[in-house]
Amino acid sequence: MWPMSCEELTYNQLGENIKARLGGQRVPLSVTVGLTDRCNLWCVHCFVHDPARDQELRARELTTEQWIDLFDRLAEAGCFWMTMTGGEILLRPDFADLYRHAKQRGFLLSLLTNGTLLTPELVALLAEWYPLVVEITLYGLTRETYEAVTGVAGAYDRCLRGVRMFLEARVPLRLKTIAMVPTRHEVRAMYQFAAELGVEFRHDGVLFQTFHGKDIRDLRLPPEELVALDFANPKAAPDLRRLDDRYRDLVEKAPHDFQEYLYTCGGGLRSFYVDPYGGMSLCQMTRPAVYDLVSGTVEEGWEVLGELRQRRVSKDFACLHCHLAGICQRCPAFSFLEHGDPETVVEYACAIARLRAQELGLVDSMAKELVVAGS
Ligand SMILES: C[S@@+](CC[C@H](N)C(=O)[O-])C[C@H]1O[C@@H](n2cnc3c(N)ncnc32)[C@H](O)[C@@H]1O
Repeated sequence: MWPMSCEELTYNQLGENIKARLGGQRVPLSVTVGLTDRCNLWCVHCFVHDPARDQELRARELTTEQWIDLFDRLAEAGCFWMTMTGGEILLRPDFADLYRHAKQRGFLLSLLTNGTLLTPELVALLAEWYPLVVEITLYGLTRETYEAVTGVAGAYDRCLRGVRMFLEARVPLRLKTIAMVPTRHEVRAMYQFAAELGVEFRHDGVLFQTFHGKDIRDLRLPPEELVALDFANPKAAPDLRRLDDRYRDLVEKAPHDFQEYLYTCGGGLRSFYVDPYGGMSLCQMTRPAVYDLVSGTVEEGWEVLGELRQRRVSKDFACLHCHLAGICQRCPAFSFLEHGDPETVVEYACAIARLRAQELGLVDSMAKELVVAGS
């Protein structure tokens, strides 16, 4: 007979338990695959921005067979979380085959999409073979804003249609937006809209510079406005406190790591990224790729990422000693995109971290020992 009750566990808790048991061991648990960098939308802020119709890029992308073979190899190497992103994943005509295969290999799948290319067949597939979650970015709550951001007439209606189709089919769905100058006036109403739909919602607002050279700094909200928006969400303070606690815990366990090693994030420790051409890197924001998974093996690529994580910092700079690093979004990739140098303060991230610390009361409680980047 089955026991009367068993402990319920969320996937987040499962992940935390696994990580806790692994301690400092490097294990490739979680992979993000960029199925394509091409997109049917043309967002003003996007760091990727490759045209949907670019046949040369299309021809360089992994074929269906290559992705399927790679998914097999990733599963055999022990990966079981997979995020599919782009560009726009639904631009791939073979998306259904790739998705089905990843499900059959047992991956816990998160799908990041703009939702505009959804078809009844794809919804039926996802309703039968549930992903962990589908995340749709809402680039505006009105047609005017959505199409000003994405540059594509008709995309707003197609996005909302996608949202409705997922909801009707009861596919696990989350919505999010990017809080920036063109969307700022609609973000709070988007929270309301999502609540009425019964869907979780969040905003991101710390815009990275792009890979293609477009400077997006003028689209960023002033730090004060962004932090006020962040803290209007009751989850912001506990989430940031958790990040702060985790960082302090790590520093206590290995006080010198943060001053010694360039990469102290999860990239190459538990997670990694595979680009549309089979290139492996620590994360989607660190380019170029450092290992070719078409000609090589996942195990060897993972070793190459391990060597990269051994890279020491080459100079002293303020972030290495900053007590706010746990609640700051700066990382080597952010610095590189901002200043062409992975070891630099990013003033925008720094201003946001200070305001967050004020909101959390961290500055007062640590005033005597506080060392903050940029001060
Ligand atoms: C690149 S898109 C790819 C997935 C999908 N096509 C979508 O629209 O969500 C993933 C997320 O990155 C965000 N993003 C794009 N450019 C960004 C930037 N410069 N800084 C921060 N986030 C950015 C997008 O707004 C979107 O929420």
